[in-house]
Amino acid sequence: MRNIKLPAHIAFIMDGNGRWAKRRFRPRAYGHKMGVQNMTKICSHAFKLGIPIVTVYALSTENLSRPQDELDELFDLIRLYFGKKREKLTELQVKINILGDISVLPEDVQQDILAVTEETAHYGEGLLNICINYGARQEIVRAVNTAVSYGRFADEASFKELLSTAGIPDPDLIVRTGGEVRLSNFLLYQAAYAELYFSKKMWPAFGRRDLERAIANYSARDRRYGNIGRK
Ligand code: FPP
Repeated sequence: MRNIKLPAHIAFIMDGNGRWAKRRFRPRAYGHKMGVQNMTKICSHAFKLGIPIVTVYALSTENLSRPQDELDELFDLIRLYFGKKREKLTELQVKINILGDISVLPEDVQQDILAVTEETAHYGEGLLNICINYGARQEIVRAVNTAVSYGRFADEASFKELLSTAGIPDPDLIVRTGGEVRLSNFLLYQAAYAELYFSKKMWPAFGRRDLERAIANYSARDRRYGNIGRK
């Protein structure tokens, strides 16, 4: 992708797994299975293009109120990709970081996740943030309470360091698939000046060319940050 300004941080709301499966008369779990396969494919392509930071919304705090059988299937997928198939993640050769509270997950799943984050901790080139039981409002309230417990006022710089994304630059581009046009409690603080891109494609069908289209669209935008920009 020549003459294209790449985002330094791209984030994905991977929506549409269930509908994608339903249209194929398959169970929702099949949609999630294909969704996670697509997640590794698209993340790999993003890193290959030269984007150093990728964030994916795998499981929101609100998703945890889905029926238990769907949750069990999602936990099984996490088990698989952080266990037996973990090379699908580790071969990306990037540091894997978890955003969200994984303490509510089954103990063995937590152990697998921690093992992968430790195994990849020394990879310096890129960063893949996987959001699991992540909710932006919960993150902000937690940060406020931490600031209060410190007994001093926070400013923007010190507040950012209390979020789970401490030390990570804000996303430049947030891509949501599945046709819905909302943020669904994703990175609300960090998204203040993110460019948003919505695709009608369901996540399992969102391919490498779709990613390149989203990036080209981003590249053509004039980011003014409230200023008057280039004329
Ligand atoms: C949204 O589709 C997708 C999710 C709630 C789950 C996404 C999870 C994965 C891709 C797997 C994560 C696994 C690992 C190993 C990180 P939806 O179910 O809301 O689809 P719908 O809107 O069509 O119903």
